[in-house]
Amino acid sequence: MPDRDLTRLTIRRPDDWHLHLRDGEMLKAVLPETTRHFARAIIMPNLVPPVVTSQQAEAYRDRIMAAVPEGDSFTPLMTLYLTESTDPEDVRAAHAAGIATAVKLYPAGATTNSASGVRDFEKVRPVLDVMAEIGMPLCVHGEVTDNEIDIFDREAVFIDKVLKPLRKKVPDLKVVMEHVTTQNAIDYVRDTHKNLAATITTHHLIINRNHILAGGIKPHFYCLPVAKREAHRVALVQAAVSGDKRFFLGTDSAPHTDPNKLQACGCAGIFTATNTMSCLAEVFAAAGRIGKLEDFASLNGPRFYGLPPNEATITLTKGDPVTYPAHITTGEGPVTVFDPGFDLHWRVTD
Ligand code: NCD
Ligand code: ZN
Repeated sequence: MPDRDLTRLTIRRPDDWHLHLRDGEMLKAVLPETTRHFARAIIMPNLVPPVVTSQQAEAYRDRIMAAVPEGDSFTPLMTLYLTESTDPEDVRAAHAAGIATAVKLYPAGATTNSASGVRDFEKVRPVLDVMAEIGMPLCVHGEVTDNEIDIFDREAVFIDKVLKPLRKKVPDLKVVMEHVTTQNAIDYVRDTHKNLAATITTHHLIINRNHILAGGIKPHFYCLPVAKREAHRVALVQAAVSGDKRFFLGTDSAPHTDPNKLQACGCAGIFTATNTMSCLAEVFAAAGRIGKLEDFASLNGPRFYGLPPNEATITLTKGDPVTYPAHITTGEGPVTVFDPGFDLHWRVTD
């Protein structure tokens, strides 16, 4: 049946390869929004203080597991926050013990809670060498932080100035360029045939920079990397729906309370956990490629990480528009759910 006539789709249960769960009351409120549909997620370590050591990752994993709603089955795949004083042997041990799946590289100052990130890449070279040896992926926030570089160019400049040289020095290192937002990143990944993949968020498939800035400023569309012009969004959609195994879902669902978003200096982050599968189905269906949703959300990610795809499935059904709450309630205050700006016809029915 042509993709456009499909009204029901059963796919392997999806995974989220880039997720912010926070901690405490926020964790309790946002986790069920993910476990409802997702089996696993790569958990970002940018807590305050960050999750740097294997011991901290293990303790955080326990707090997440304690917050999983009864009846849901969910595996958090933990990451370690790379600092210039990270001990390579601690990383090796965390990987061997199954405590950490990947290491996260934040250039210092690039985004929310990234102050302890990396300034001098030579200082983390011993860690990267160990990771290449043991096959542990590096998840990269790919933006330079120099104030002189225009915020819309920071990803493209990072590829040339940081990522290419780094991958030359450690070619055996598996790298995930996270939340890519540009044609430049898509081209770089497509042209590279080994040890490189990219995640794409739900919101970057839907919004461009006009959504943030035209007709009044929309803080709920502000995230990092910031959404780029329309041609870049189109390139992301093409990559996502192509079935190319190097591209997979990482929602970067990043909850901040409304008071923290709606202020003179508002936080970066968009919360998409609640309606991500409906949004993605709409994007893939609009492109005539709903049949590729499973590759993007459920198959390509585990393949890159060397994990089996999930045995369980979910079923999406197309019908009358489905509505989601405008915000979820948390112990820290309301968190606004991403508004894609169009009707969503697909819902997860079982
Ligand atoms: C993330 C956050 O809030 O932790 N924010 C965001 O805009 N994506 C950090 C990040 O992934 O850059
Ligand atoms: Zn993120």
